[in-house]
Amino acid sequence: MQTPTRSHYAAEALTLTAGTPVRLLGWVAVKHQVGGLLFLRIRDGSGYIQVSGRKGTIPQEAWEAAKDASIESAVYAEGIVKDDPRAPSGKELVLSNFQVISPAELWPLRKSLLKSRTALYDLRHLALRGPRTSAIIKIRSKLMESVFDYFFSRGYVYIQSPILVKAAVEGGATLFPVKYFDDVVYLSQSAQLYEEAAICALDKVFIVQPAFRAERSKTSRHLTEFWMIEAELAFTGFEDLMKIEEELVFNISSSIANDCKEELSRVGKKVVAPEPPFPRITYDEALDIATKSGISISWGDDLGTEAERIVSLNFDKPVFVTKYPVNARSFYHMSPPDNPKVTLSADLLAPEGYGEIATGGQRIHNYNVLLDKVRQQGLDPRTMKWYLDLRRYGMPPHSGFGLGVERTLRWLLGLRHIRASTLFPRTPNRVYP
Ligand code: 4AD
Ligand code: MG
Repeated sequence: MQTPTRSHYAAEALTLTAGTPVRLLGWVAVKHQVGGLLFLRIRDGSGYIQVSGRKGTIPQEAWEAAKDASIESAVYAEGIVKDDPRAPSGKELVLSNFQVISPAELWPLRKSLLKSRTALYDLRHLALRGPRTSAIIKIRSKLMESVFDYFFSRGYVYIQSPILVKAAVEGGATLFPVKYFDDVVYLSQSAQLYEEAAICALDKVFIVQPAFRAERSKTSRHLTEFWMIEAELAFTGFEDLMKIEEELVFNISSSIANDCKEELSRVGKKVVAPEPPFPRITYDEALDIATKSGISISWGDDLGTEAERIVSLNFDKPVFVTKYPVNARSFYHMSPPDNPKVTLSADLLAPEGYGEIATGGQRIHNYNVLLDKVRQQGLDPRTMKWYLDLRRYGMPPHSGFGLGVERTLRWLLGLRHIRASTLFPRTPNRVYP
């Protein structure tokens, strides 16, 4: 049998005047029969539409097919748009023909069958059809679009870097080893080092690609595979970098707020784009706030989840925490000339307790300073040779940052757990489906 063709998507059909004929292809989301009257909610990629059919007014074969169609069957529905104040969107489709294109077995995503959230994620390949999950993924797509718009409209070059690498960027503890013929290589934690090479040819670059961290932490903000937006700029200092970060976050948030109204209502979240400038506090000030709330952190340690939460609760916009101690930072961070104990780096903490969404800073561009740092941190200068080499051939002062896609979405959409921000999450306990 030939597959019928569609004339409109569901969301388009809801904008048509009464009397317009419509042919839909989609899935049965809801079905409800009262005697000779049938109500269906049909879903496609654009949204949902109510469809009603009356026995005797449509071909018998179509009536039987519609009446027996199981939830999540792929179907063809043909009808006429009708105004109906009782329908959720004020319009419905009055059925004239119906066909099941591919039937579904008994749908397993029923409350009575789902014992836990884990079970829901075991069935993620099916659960993603739900109104909330599909809305989140559409918003994520808008986030990506706005990131590309932002960078392309400002003259950045989009580069790609290897995923199979020989060295750590953010400390060796979180590397995933991969057997590589007779050798071992690692999955990339960050594209930063390659971006640093690229800026000497291209001035300013960005990357949007997955990053991998073998972090066992089972928190609501860690994934083992996540997507990172990274940018790196030649001849750029730390202060200018923060302006770029806040502008990017503003652009992302306002695109989502303006263009995803329907999806945001499905998620039940209002997004208000935070206007730059974002507040800036130093690490020392952040430590004070944390200490006053009873969290004790020794100077030099990373803030950690709880302190970040407390600090960010003090602000209604994202806040930059600047000048992290050298010990809390990776080897490439530059120190200001007047204080070798701190770095020209900042974490961007999202408000409402969501914590870190980005880290950025100025990199060391002097060869000897970097070589010392590599040795001090116990790294092997041989695997770092190419990276050190850059400092021998005209490396200018430069800065860059990485913004986590899933962390940003989690904050903007108020998601309880980061795994909801991605189609098929990867955590220490989950690589299926
Ligand atoms: O702070 P991170 O580790 O910084 C870097 O990797 C830098 N080399 C980036 C750069 O300067 N080019 O990671 C950057 C961001 C974090 O702020 C966070 O948003 C996200 O990546 N991130 C994670 N997201 C989810 N799960 C994890 N395990 C994450 N680790 C980092
Ligand atoms: Mg960080």
